[in-house]
Order: sequence, then structure tokens, then C-alpha cells
Amino acid sequence: MYTTRPLTALSRRYICAPCRHFASSTPTLAQAASVKKLGVIGAGQMGLGIALTASRMAKVPVTIVDNSQASLDKGLAFADKLLSKDIQKERISQSDADATRSRLKTTTSMDDLGDVDMVIEAVPEIVDLKKLIFSSLAQICPSHAILATNTSSISITLIAAATSKDPKDLSASSRVVSTHFMNPVPIQKGVEIISGLQTSASTLATAIAFCESMEKIPSTSADTPGFLANRILMPYINEAIICLETGVGDEKSIDEIMKNGTNVPMGPLTLADFIGLDTCLSIMEVLHKGLGDSKR
Ligand SMILES: NC(=O)c1ccc[n+]([C@@H]2O[C@H](COP(=O)([O-])OP(=O)(O)OC[C@H]3O[C@@H](n4cnc5c(N)ncnc54)[C@H](O)[C@@H]3O)[C@@H](O)[C@H]2O)c1
Repeated sequence: MYTTRPLTALSRRYICAPCRHFASSTPTLAQAASVKKLGVIGAGQMGLGIALTASRMAKVPVTIVDNSQASLDKGLAFADKLLSKDIQKERISQSDADATRSRLKTTTSMDDLGDVDMVIEAVPEIVDLKKLIFSSLAQICPSHAILATNTSSISITLIAAATSKDPKDLSASSRVVSTHFMNPVPIQKGVEIISGLQTSASTLATAIAFCESMEKIPSTSADTPGFLANRILMPYINEAIICLETGVGDEKSIDEIMKNGTNVPMGPLTLADFIGLDTCLSIMEVLHKGLGDSKR
């Protein structure tokens, strides 16, 4: 036997140098700025969940931006449904639900984000779209605002670089960070916080503190393809799809053995549908291009 020590006991000397840099850069809470107003871009399944949870737990007003009025209407209808369900189950009082709902404002114009302390972007996983949004946010948001992305896999350093044409100008890129919430946001406790090369310590501290005010449990990871959650999760989903494709098992058997055998709430194929196959494919392409491995 090579070692009998559990993996969780491995010391930090086994961590590669770039990852050690990120792992050691956990800031102090004293560096965190207060977030009194939040912006969220994208009213889809993640953006709506982030906005609702921020309003409910951190009790901040939230401006939700989406370029589709239909998405905004659908998002707010979903928020109403979730709140009604929680009132029925006595998880929230009617007055707290009303207050939560009243803090949510919607708009189709990003220009309405001129007064936020932090913005969290949750538009589809398309590199050029995220770059476009961040270059606009650098112009629209106040000069202190934290610019966070909910990307599942795209480099934070790359997204941050889109905030200025001058690579020496870190005034906006130092405020870019990832707050990678998990789906469904109101339920999942974990948030993966990823810094880009330009991210300042106070930006990281503010992102961590704000996620904690949303009653989430932040974990930090390095800015490498897929970060932690999806670097581990996506090969698992991919292998399940390959098992289906090659006839190792049918859909029911694949999902049932993983659900009942490893105590996860749903099997990998159901999970892939839940995340969205377009999102899964985008993440897998980032992993494949970034890590060059056919299994990813
Ligand atoms: N789905 C998941 O399980 C999951 C989990 C973690 C992270 N993410 C990440 O979160 C992000 C959003 O994913 P989602 O599943 O919520 O997507 P979604 O498709 O449900 O929602 C995206 C929303 O963005 C809006 N949008 C598109 N272009 C826009 C623009 N230019 N300006 C404003 N709004 C625009 C769309 O109308 C839509 O409402 C992606 O980066 C994804 O990788 C997804």
C-alpha cells in the first residue's frame, strides 16, 4: 500500500504552486465592504434564485436585469410561487415574504445598475457574451462596485480583462470575482468563490462576506478550467452519458445505482437535465479545451 493516510489529511505541500497562491490568499473580513444594493443580470434559473435569496436572506434591494421581458415576467412568477410555497409550509411569514418580494425590481436596461454596490452576472455560459457584459458593467456601475460572475467554468481572469482595453488599468478588473452559486440557489448552501489574477483582496473579502450574509457557505478555488465543482462533476456526468451511449446500462439503472448507491439526491442523467444540457455542453467544452483530456 502506497499510503494509508486519508486524502483529506494530505498536507498543503502537495498543492501545486499556482493553486497554493490562490489557496493562501483568503482575505480577512475587515477588508470586506458592505453591500447595500445588489444588481443581478439574467433572470433565468440561477439569476432569479440569486436575486430571491439575496433579497430574502441578506435583505438588500435587488435590481434584476434581463434583455427579455418574458424572462423577467417568468422569473417573478417563479419567485411568487416559491414564496407562496414557503408561506404554506410556514418557512416564512407573510410579512417577510411581502418584504422580500418588494425588494425585487426588474428592468431590461443595464443602465439601471448605476447605483449598485455589487452586481452578479448570470447570463448563458458564452464567453463573448460575458465579456461584452463586463465591459459594459465597468462603464455603468459605480467605481467601487464588485463585479461578480456566476460562470460555471470560464476563466475569471479572462472575463476581468474585458473591463478595460489597457491591461495595466486594474481599476475595474480588480473588482471582478466569481461567486459560483449552485442550483437551486435557495436550497444549496455551497458557493464557489474564484479570484482572477487581477482580483483584489478586498473584492474577495466582500464577495465572501456577502455570500455569508445570504447564509451560504463559501469555498475558494483556483481560476482553472471548471474550477472545483464542475471539474469534478462534469466528468462524472460525461461518464454516465458514455455508459448510456455504449449500453453499459439504461437511463433508469444509471440514475438509480448512483442515487441509491452513493446517497446523492438524483442520478447523473437527471442532474444533467436539471442543470440544462446546453450549460453542461458549454462547461465540458471549456474543460476539454483547457485541460485537453477526452474524458472531460
Ligand atoms: N443551470 C445551472 O445548474 C447552473 C449552475 C451554476 C452556474 N450556472 C451558470 O449560471 C449562468 C446562468 O445559467 P442559467 O442556467 O441561469 O441560464 P438560463 O438560460 O436559465 O438564464 C439566462 C438568462 O440570461 C438572460 N440573458 C441572455 N442574454 C442576456 C443579456 N445580454 N442581457 C441580460 N440578460 C440576458 C436570458 O434571457 C435568461 O433569462 C451560466 O453562466 C451558467 O453556466 C448554471
